[in-house]
Amino acid sequence: MNITELQSIVGPRHVVTDTARTQTFVADWTGRFSGSTPAVVRPGTVEEVAAVVEWCRANAVPLVPQGGNTGLVGGSVPLHGEIVLSLTRLDAVRDLDDISGQVTAGAGTTIAALQTAARAVGWDYGVDWGARDSATVGGSIATNAGGSRVIRYGDTRAQVLGIEAVLGDGSIISHLDGLVKDNTGYHMPSLLCGSEGTLGVVTAARLRLVPLLTERVVALLAFDDVDGALAACSALRRSVSTLESAELFFDDGLELVCATFGLGRPLTAKAAAYLLVECADRVDPTESLGAMVESVGPNDAAVASEAGRRADLWRYREAHTEAINLVGRPHKLDVTLPAEAMRAFIEAVRTRVQGVVPSATVWVFGHAADGNLHVNVTGVEPGDERVDEAVLTLVAELRGSISAEHGIGTAKKRWLPLNRSAAELAAMRAIKHALDPDAILNPNVLL
Ligand code: FAD
Ligand code: MLT
Ligand code: ZN
Repeated sequence: MNITELQSIVGPRHVVTDTARTQTFVADWTGRFSGSTPAVVRPGTVEEVAAVVEWCRANAVPLVPQGGNTGLVGGSVPLHGEIVLSLTRLDAVRDLDDISGQVTAGAGTTIAALQTAARAVGWDYGVDWGARDSATVGGSIATNAGGSRVIRYGDTRAQVLGIEAVLGDGSIISHLDGLVKDNTGYHMPSLLCGSEGTLGVVTAARLRLVPLLTERVVALLAFDDVDGALAACSALRRSVSTLESAELFFDDGLELVCATFGLGRPLTAKAAAYLLVECADRVDPTESLGAMVESVGPNDAAVASEAGRRADLWRYREAHTEAINLVGRPHKLDVTLPAEAMRAFIEAVRTRVQGVVPSATVWVFGHAADGNLHVNVTGVEPGDERVDEAVLTLVAELRGSISAEHGIGTAKKRWLPLNRSAAELAAMRAIKHALDPDAILNPNVLL
């Protein structure tokens, strides 16, 4: 491989070959998936991205696009010696239009930086999740990230008005005018959202902003059983128009978070299931939420309006991911169930997993309002896929989706036919072939 040619495209400083420095780029966030790379290439412009893609094509060298490397399905790392194309230098936030509420963000912009820029002018970005400080706009589009506000603002796909990307043949597509209504053929943002770096390298996006709501209240509600928590979630969704998040977790996860990070328990008594809800409005939503909370009858509740205290309550939910990772490299199974099947799934999933690996520990938490559960399994070898098989087939039996918000990556590739027909898979392959004729873009994920 002629590294000098790559250096001449992006500059010698931006081609990293030293294994001590490439280490953080070749393993995923969980530590379950890792590989190696001859070079991490860090372009600074869309033209440089196009030139690198063209070079890869001409030299038959596959590449893996990478943003913040917070992906949870092993899709962002070079499993078979690919080049890593790191987009973090493309982090400009520009053309922030505070009249229409739109902004153009480079692919490498972190979600936190995007939020900060939007909030400075009275707007906000609608999608939010725990990895906001590292996860990037490009990665979130490639995975169609969801997070904790989907009930109010939709997923990433719902925010993207226009996109700039480099396709597998090296061509640049750019449609960043941000017209809200624009029916001029195929909607490229929709196609690239969730494409996991297999169709194009996202370099920038025109994003929709949402009004900044500063009056907020968070409540942690405790219930005797999962039925109580799910019924409360449904009742709150119907009656509280300011509801932004409704998150579910259980006592084993709460106990782990408290023990791992030395936190006090948030409520005096233990409960079986917890719902964390947040409401946001222009006027203080505390009273209206309070009245509704009483009507859904939790055993106990902690309510917080002040920002620091709200963050404290969120920590019990968001710190699940890190706490579980510290137990051991987890198998992460992010799934959606139809609302009526959630309880049956939660009841059955532990038995199914422990039926194949008795020593496994199963952790369940998630975004209750979206039917999105995160099943994390620890105590299983990274390569032992029996637990993945057990969980994903149970999901399919209950007519759910094997990927709610993290994507397919390499972790779930085998099971895609559980959700997609042969005709759908053939159509996807045809699209892949049209946009990436030499199959150089992230060849080990999705299809
Ligand atoms: P990476 O991990 O670098 O890449 C992810 C995928 O996108 C890979 O396939 C990669 O090849 C591709 N890609 C990256 N950049 C580009 C680009 N510019 N062009 C084309 N393809 C690209 N996800 C959720 O949806 N909801 C959550 O609530 C959530 N919570 C999380 C909490 C924690 C603590 C962590 C660690 C992760 C969480 N995630 C969550 C997963 C992760 O943050 C998202 O999948 C995120 O969108 C990945 O962004 P990234 O920039 O880190 O992408
Ligand atoms: C979350 O909601 O916390 C995430 O999607 C991360 C995870 O699954 O651990
Ligand atoms: Zn999630």
